[in-house]
Amino acid sequence: ISVPSDGRNVVLTGFMGTGKSTVGKLLAKRLGYCFSDLDALIVGRAGISINEIFERYGEQRFRELETEAIRFLCGVSGRVVATGGGAVIAPRNRELLRKAGLVVNLTASLEVILCRLKGDRERPLLKSNNTPEALAALMAGREDAYADADLRIDTAGKSVEDVVTEIATFV
Ligand code: S3P
Repeated sequence: ISVPSDGRNVVLTGFMGTGKSTVGKLLAKRLGYCFSDLDALIVGRAGISINEIFERYGEQRFRELETEAIRFLCGVSGRVVATGGGAVIAPRNRELLRKAGLVVNLTASLEVILCRLKGDRERPLLKSNNTPEALAALMAGREDAYADADLRIDTAGKSVEDVVTEIATFV
């Protein structure tokens, strides 16, 4: 079902809590693009929550579903795509996403992220990495993958509108 994209999308990457979905929705409105959330697509296709996918089938199965969803989304254009925090780990996913459009990596410090994710029950990796140290290690291990982007924007202390304006000038 995947047709070649003309590459005109904006792909938002970044660790959990960097604001990909929030920024993505507003950016899509601003640009007149459609908004797609990779995790929502996976959940819609699987018919169960991300937590349930991890519990029943494990992270590896989730990663397979994630790659399938990326392949599907890469066939579209004129979209803002919010990816899940781990979508860029696999080099083949990064290759697909780079081909799909402008890759914008959103960042925030661990402190800001901890604050934003406080009380979250929807993210399975917060259960398996339930200390600041563990989360910091997870984030550090992904740094090179996140750095593989056209643009990196620190979201800490900025409003969603400011981040959207910053990205929109590059589109
Ligand atoms: C994940 C991040 C989540 C979701 C899944 C795994 C990760 O997305 O895809 O729980 O590996 O960092 P968000 O970044 O939207 O929280």
